[in-house]
Amino acid sequence: MAYRSLAIIGGTGLGALATISKDDALEVTTPYGSPSAPLMKGRLGIRPVTFLARHGNPHALLPQEINYRANIHALVESGCDAIVGVNAVGAIRRDVSSGDVVVPHDIIDYTYGRKHTFGGDGRVIHVDMTEPYASDLRAALNQAAGQVAQLTVHRDGVYGCTQGPRLETSAEIDRMERDGCDVVGMTGMPEAALAREMGVGYAAVCLVVNAAAGRAPGPITLQQIEEVTLTGMEKVEALLTHAVESLYK
Ligand code: HPA
Repeated sequence: MAYRSLAIIGGTGLGALATISKDDALEVTTPYGSPSAPLMKGRLGIRPVTFLARHGNPHALLPQEINYRANIHALVESGCDAIVGVNAVGAIRRDVSSGDVVVPHDIIDYTYGRKHTFGGDGRVIHVDMTEPYASDLRAALNQAAGQVAQLTVHRDGVYGCTQGPRLETSAEIDRMERDGCDVVGMTGMPEAALAREMGVGYAAVCLVVNAAAGRAPGPITLQQIEEVTLTGMEKVEALLTHAVESLYK
């Protein structure tokens, strides 16, 4: 499928896209409130894209403070017809390492109390989530990942979305592994479900920034995460540039 207007929601470590200029910032509001930041309308390579910093710019919003409804609504109302979310995650599966990218094919939602639907108040909606991520977007992301030097990509995986902001206990990660989760993050939901409710394709690129709790000796440190994020997100940006090229064809 050819897309006309792709949106990228950047997570931790991707607060901006280097190629998008500040002049293109679009301040918008929605019936659900304001998105995390202005929509940055610009280009990736030669293709138009809209970038949104999920945690705000500068990064100030915790995962449960993000107005996911406003973010998705604003992007779709501004004309975007597909959304790629970028997430930093911890690795649960043993063959997934820091610095790798996972393009998840499924998700388990462990969050609670988030405003997670456009329905309610008399509007009854039950979207199908059998396949939560758009297969054509996933294929483009996987193919693009193969074009980035020194990047290991896992072509599928199950994303477990926890509430945060704290990291998990070892026992929680063991339980998530038994549930079938391969990676853990805090922002995959309700983003994916809301995109489905609005009828736009959605997929995610997950950069692994640490081994999940109990999967490596010692505590998880912010310093460790920041080091991986810095170099990893440069590769994610290269991946997105390649993906955008094929998605607009
Ligand atoms: N757990 C939850 N969210 C995360 C992690 C983690 O280990 N790493 C990055 N985001």
